[in-house]
Amino acid sequence: MADLIRAVINPSRPASGDTLSAFTTSELKNVIAFHQSIPGYHPTPLTALPALASALGVKTIQVKDESRRFGLNAFKALGASWAMASYLAQQLELTEQPLIFPQLQTALRQHPALTQTFATTTDGNHGRGVAWMARLLGQKAVINMPAGTTAERLQAIRAEGATAQIVPMNYDDAVRLTAKQAAEAGWIIMQDTAWPGYEAIPMWIMQGYSTLITEIAEQLTVLPTHLFVQAGVGAFAGAIQAAAIARWGEQAPRVIIVESSQADCLYRSAQRDDGQTVAVSGALDTIMAGLACGEANTIAWPILRDHSNAFLSCADEVAALGMRMLAAPCPGDMPITSGESGAVGAGALGLLMQPGYASIAQMLSLDHNARVLLISTEGDTDKTGYRNIVWGGQHALSL
Ligand SMILES: Cc1ncc(COP(=O)(O)O)c(C=O)c1O
Repeated sequence: MADLIRAVINPSRPASGDTLSAFTTSELKNVIAFHQSIPGYHPTPLTALPALASALGVKTIQVKDESRRFGLNAFKALGASWAMASYLAQQLELTEQPLIFPQLQTALRQHPALTQTFATTTDGNHGRGVAWMARLLGQKAVINMPAGTTAERLQAIRAEGATAQIVPMNYDDAVRLTAKQAAEAGWIIMQDTAWPGYEAIPMWIMQGYSTLITEIAEQLTVLPTHLFVQAGVGAFAGAIQAAAIARWGEQAPRVIIVESSQADCLYRSAQRDDGQTVAVSGALDTIMAGLACGEANTIAWPILRDHSNAFLSCADEVAALGMRMLAAPCPGDMPITSGESGAVGAGALGLLMQPGYASIAQMLSLDHNARVLLISTEGDTDKTGYRNIVWGGQHALSL
């Protein structure tokens, strides 16, 4: 059992340059004002799990449940919506902030010549967000999905009216293919990762995720000491880290980054002394489809490198444990439907509080004083896979 989680504690380094400047409190307010103006918006629940906290030996556990986001079963549309809206507002020269959804919709109807095709690569959740926002704003979406994507995730994107296909390559190669196709066809790349020279849209996407922290700050009754954030390319984690500092400053919790051991590019990068990134290639074969990305986002990595506390590389069993812990809670706690990429933080916490992981827990100060915040970033986005794990006991471990 002892190597289902490997940990790197991040040495504290002097922050390099201003990696947090896109996450000011006034920018965070503009972002949530936009999200609040989208029809159907409501904050997702923040649920306390006191019985689980007591069973594991920490003070409090709270879980932000993103399965309830805009009816899309994952948080990702927060980024796609803000980025697409910001891009289109720039085209329309709408400069007034906050940007408001109905005004943008009206302006676009008055300028049909500005209709664009937005192209992206996705394991499912981001592409569904792009397709959804494109439909609401009268735009087009073209989506590539890496090999191994389930038919259910493909159908969910097609149901939003996008052109979507599965391509025979891993996520990172599919990102390159989409960028090439977009350049040839004149489409706008709406990618949730960045690379040198492609940074404006990914930064908007990251800003979009900050709404989660703005909502949490309104919902919390007690400030967390520890925040577990799962990562694929690290855009989500970078955004949450930056927004937590913007919102809570010195009081911000320590942020613990959680990855799949099959795609742990941030964990491996954190092991280097020179602050550079390490890529993971190959099939990236993990049940955590949303985290199956082997190359770090170049604007998120400096934020994580300079500010996050620790990086965890987790086997699939850890995510499966988290799914079951949340689905079958301790008596008195509410159940939460959390998918593979959503539940790995809960699983990591559950395992770290077992005697076999006491040394890592101690390094992270995870003890009876810890107030833990978890973000369940998706629900059962692959229903068959969810049942195979939660009902069928796939990827089991013994505690
Ligand atoms: C459910 C879920 N959680 C977390 C992530 C990680 O986000 P990022 O790739 O920005 O690290 C993803 C990415 O697709 C996801 O789908």
